[in-house]
Amino acid sequence: MSGISRIFVVGAGTMGHGIAEVAALRGFSVTLYDIKQEFLDGALSRIRWSLERLAEKGTIGSPDEVMSRISTTLDLESGASGADFVIEAAPERMEVKRDIFSRLDRSARPGAVLATNTSSLPITEISESVSEGRRGSVVGMHFFNPPVIMQLVEVVRGSHTSDAAVGAAYDLARALGKQPVIVSRDVPGFIVNRIMARFLNAACSLVERGIYGMEQVDAAARHSLGMPMGAFELSDYIGMDVLDDIIRAMVARGFRMRPCGLFGEARAAGRLGVKSGRGFYEHPGAKFRKPELDPSLAGAVDPVLLIAPAVNEAAYLLREGVASRDDIDKAVRLGLNYPRGIFEYADQYGPGAIASALRRLEGLLGSDEYEPDPLILEIAGRGGRFYPRGPG
Ligand code: 3HC
Repeated sequence: MSGISRIFVVGAGTMGHGIAEVAALRGFSVTLYDIKQEFLDGALSRIRWSLERLAEKGTIGSPDEVMSRISTTLDLESGASGADFVIEAAPERMEVKRDIFSRLDRSARPGAVLATNTSSLPITEISESVSEGRRGSVVGMHFFNPPVIMQLVEVVRGSHTSDAAVGAAYDLARALGKQPVIVSRDVPGFIVNRIMARFLNAACSLVERGIYGMEQVDAAARHSLGMPMGAFELSDYIGMDVLDDIIRAMVARGFRMRPCGLFGEARAAGRLGVKSGRGFYEHPGAKFRKPELDPSLAGAVDPVLLIAPAVNEAAYLLREGVASRDDIDKAVRLGLNYPRGIFEYADQYGPGAIASALRRLEGLLGSDEYEPDPLILEIAGRGGRFYPRGPG
């Protein structure tokens, strides 16, 4: 794409290494930064593993050729000074992001775009750690795990973000082979993580209260709802530290949720998921192992109870004008690999059944986070649908 050839990725963890891989695959020259050599070495070996999978399938030619476009550094300032476009993918803590952005402000060349892959922290707050003249260059660019496979990128506009920075992030996402969706309001968790957090928290809370078993809800997500992963399986994949940080950041900024205790307990016990070899399931060698979930386990679970909280959040985002119905559905299809959009699920079960399920959850789990959104009640009240002319 015009004017951008060198990309600097800050943070070599789960997301950073994947973003660097995607950029190198698309011909960009990439520098990857982290604070310890062992993190950089780990990232390079994960990128090589992934490239070898792609090469085995014939999707790409030589992994070496792609690897040759990736260099690493322990020096943030020198990495930033040579870049046209920076993508920060450091841990989800505001003090960490603010420190990185203030250093990028001093070292990046004038005009470089400073994107953050934050998944839950406001772009506006992050942008306020750079000097006023640069705030327009700070934009959200939220990828999904694994970046090499997931198609979606949420491009998020903060209050100071310029049209030029939004346009540059959108164009770069396209140049990386992704499908961007523009999120026009800087709400905590944007579109996908808000919807995902509702699904994960409800599933987890039902298990925490002993209403269902973990494998039952995961089997129902996969076999009744057709999702690629169950809630506990997905939590392992994301990482309990990341998930816990995301939920805390969102709740601290007004997201109404009583977080399920099982996530925090797993984190405190060091059961972080795939990255530590064990989360809710075992992942020997810190490699994802898909749990066997017998389809018969799904029968015990009412799938509407699992999907209704996610629909409720989507209805809120639509009613508040954060994104359109079609963009929300595109976002869950491409960011979570759901087989259908969240409003298509709503219509499949019926908005009235979704509202009743939310009322049941309020009773079962005793939290007002399940209070049905006025938009669902309005559509259910007149016997309507989210797609009045049939599935999108
Ligand atoms: N690189 C290359 N290939 C990969 C890969 C990677 N990183 N990860 C998986 N693959 C390949 C596998 O090798 C396999 O190839 P094959 O079909 O030729 O054997 C194929 O993808 C399928 O993988 P698996 O058989 O291991 O497992 P699945 O069929 O379950 O697919 C998945 C894996 C694509 C990750 C699928 O489970 C999925 O879509 N899960 C949902 C992921 C999701 O929701 N991500 C978003 C999380 S939220 C987020 O990221 C936001 C953040 O802010 C938290």
